[in-house]
Amino acid sequence: MSLPKRIVLVGPMGAGKSTIGRMLARELGYRFLDTDRIIEERCGANIPWIFDVEGEEGFRQRETAMLEELSAEAGTVLATGGGAVMRPENHALLKMHSVVVYLRTSIEQQVERTRKDRNRPLLQNDDPEGVLRKLFAVRDPLYTELADIIMHTDRKSPRLVVRQLVNRINPKTPRQQRQVRKEGRNHV
Ligand code: S3P
Repeated sequence: MSLPKRIVLVGPMGAGKSTIGRMLARELGYRFLDTDRIIEERCGANIPWIFDVEGEEGFRQRETAMLEELSAEAGTVLATGGGAVMRPENHALLKMHSVVVYLRTSIEQQVERTRKDRNRPLLQNDDPEGVLRKLFAVRDPLYTELADIIMHTDRKSPRLVVRQLVNRINPKTPRQQRQVRKEGRNHV
């Protein structure tokens, strides 16, 4: 089985897309790209500033443009922002030449991992947990629909998640290959 051209990571804020993506890229000898970071570099401003000045809509336009630009980049692991699945026109861009991995994470883990963060404008309010719950209700079906692999990340170290992903994406032993055939699009 050959490696896919691209691996695209989707999932909510706090799922570990950047940490896992960077480690996975290193493991596979791929380049790691992160739409949020590239948008910030291009803009010369951070995401809170972009939301402030251009509104969420402005940010979403930049996000779609970035997904378009990166859709042909082979040999890459791409981490996307949690809201990248919200625009229907992004779906084909996410799926293009790629294996889409949904890093599925409980609300508790999302809350824990984003607690001290000031770089996520959607969570700078009195009830970040409530926001994460609402977003999850809307987005979980979209992530699930788009995913080729659903990887559960709760109570797993990034290292374990990466090991399981590598086995799943590029199964080497006959046992791993049988497992993949049996599971099809699976929950790991
Ligand atoms: C967002 C998630 C963020 C970032 C922006 C909006 C969202 O990315 O794109 O703050 O709508 O869920 P992460 O998922 O990497 O935190």
